[in-house]
Amino acid sequence: MWTPPQKHKHPIPATRWPSADEAADSLLFAPLEHGALQLAQRSWVPAMVPWRATEDGQVTDDVVDWYARFAAGRPGALVVEATGVRDVPSGPLLRIGDDRFIPGLQRLTAAVRAASAGHTRLFIQLIDFLAVKRRPPADKFFARFLAVDAGHRARLAALQHQPRWLDAPEPELRAALHHAGPESWPALLTPRELRDLEYGYRESVSDLELPHIAELPRALPGLFAAAAARAQAAGFDGVELHYAHAYTMASFLSRTNTRSDGYGASLAGRLRLPLEVIAAVRERIGAGFVLGCRMLGDEVIAGGSDLADAVEFARAFARAGLEFISVSKGGKFDDALQPKVGEAVYPYTGPSGYECMPTVISDQRGPFARNLPQAAAIRAAIRADGLLTPVVAAGGLNSFEQAEGALQAGQADIIAAARQSLADPDWWHKLRLGRGDEIRRCKYTNYCEALDTRHKQVTCQLWDRQGLDAPDVTLSHDGRRRLVAPRWRR
Ligand SMILES: Cc1cc2nc3c(=O)[nH]c(=O)nc-3n(C[C@H](O)[C@H](O)[C@H](O)COP(=O)(O)O)c2cc1C
Ligand code: SF4
Repeated sequence: MWTPPQKHKHPIPATRWPSADEAADSLLFAPLEHGALQLAQRSWVPAMVPWRATEDGQVTDDVVDWYARFAAGRPGALVVEATGVRDVPSGPLLRIGDDRFIPGLQRLTAAVRAASAGHTRLFIQLIDFLAVKRRPPADKFFARFLAVDAGHRARLAALQHQPRWLDAPEPELRAALHHAGPESWPALLTPRELRDLEYGYRESVSDLELPHIAELPRALPGLFAAAAARAQAAGFDGVELHYAHAYTMASFLSRTNTRSDGYGASLAGRLRLPLEVIAAVRERIGAGFVLGCRMLGDEVIAGGSDLADAVEFARAFARAGLEFISVSKGGKFDDALQPKVGEAVYPYTGPSGYECMPTVISDQRGPFARNLPQAAAIRAAIRADGLLTPVVAAGGLNSFEQAEGALQAGQADIIAAARQSLADPDWWHKLRLGRGDEIRRCKYTNYCEALDTRHKQVTCQLWDRQGLDAPDVTLSHDGRRRLVAPRWRR
């Protein structure tokens, strides 16, 4: 995992918890209403992939237990993990690309409703992602994957001063390219081929030469709209379009999108497909079903979109009638660490990944409330346009003082906490009851995220070894960890 160059270990700041009366009078625990979005309080658990679905993307008992456990803490809203809109195999990640996924999702929505006594609104994050392959062994790459052409021949001939490579048999050429070694590969391969070799092949939205990538603007509005209709049928209160991090829709928004077909390059071009998806989804689900998105306040990569772009995206989304805009940061493939041979590159391992899920090993600024400035700027711009679209802030938010301070200062309308809610799903409820001193506070050391990176069932180090032999405890595949936080004994 990447850590910032200046390493300061930040303590979790001491904080003062509110009394029950103070909580009752706070903005955090005040209702919020905007169109179809009606929250009993302004607390939010954002999407977190727990790696608990079946290999074919279906809801399991463990998925139901995971969400019911968060619902017991009664957040105003809970967002189900990134769920694939296509009907294609994607390992143990939830899917919603066919009607056969609806019954399982119905079980999930019923469980959340029961566990929160109807208090928590439940949304599902809809995601599309492109192909990412594992980093290949170099011999395999040169023998099988590399599409050799006249350019490779010419570069090798020039590098080795041997014209025979211009028409040598292909197997010999492949072997020679391989044996030229890592120091020569940058001169022999295109930058893209070098990336495929060093990080694994991955598609990008600008690959217009690939027919299915060229067709994304025709395919995605229908796929997202059908998925949203299934979410509606399954009993969700709304959907969150995943326009953040390393995935297809964020890549359309990115300044790195160089598509020349009207869906890239300029700001209007990059916004075009995201707006068309919003329009298609809204047309399908109608009013009365919440439609929001998660987007990046900053990609935090060289040549990527920054806060100024994000403000324009958010203004356009607010004008398009979204009922919330949830702001995240970073989480890109572009600067991710090189994976080991046989593993796939992971978007939360580099500097932008750090910005997405900052840890206590940080720079001077530390991990807490680190993304609030982006949420605040986006909210201010939307308000300046005369629109009231609620803005959700996330990223190192872990105390009442900080959450209430941000709401009172108008930096955000809703406070989201992922890891603090994983560390203690009851923390919202404890706050509301004036029992903050019973909160199990997140350490922000990213044990959970390391499990996510390795595609292992996500748990929290603060509770996953407790009471393993209790009768109702379900255990991880290795039998060593419990899968949900122990019940709060009041
Ligand atoms: C294990 C794990 C899985 C995550 N999965 C998702 C996801 O599916 N979609 C998403 O938008 N963000 C995902 N995130 C990011 C969180 O929603 C959140 O933005 C981030 O952790 C920062 O907030 P925090 O400091 O409150 O944890 C995930 C985070 C963690 C720790
Ligand atoms: S594992 Fe660590 S970072 Fe993750 S929720 Fe638990 S305490 Fe927080």
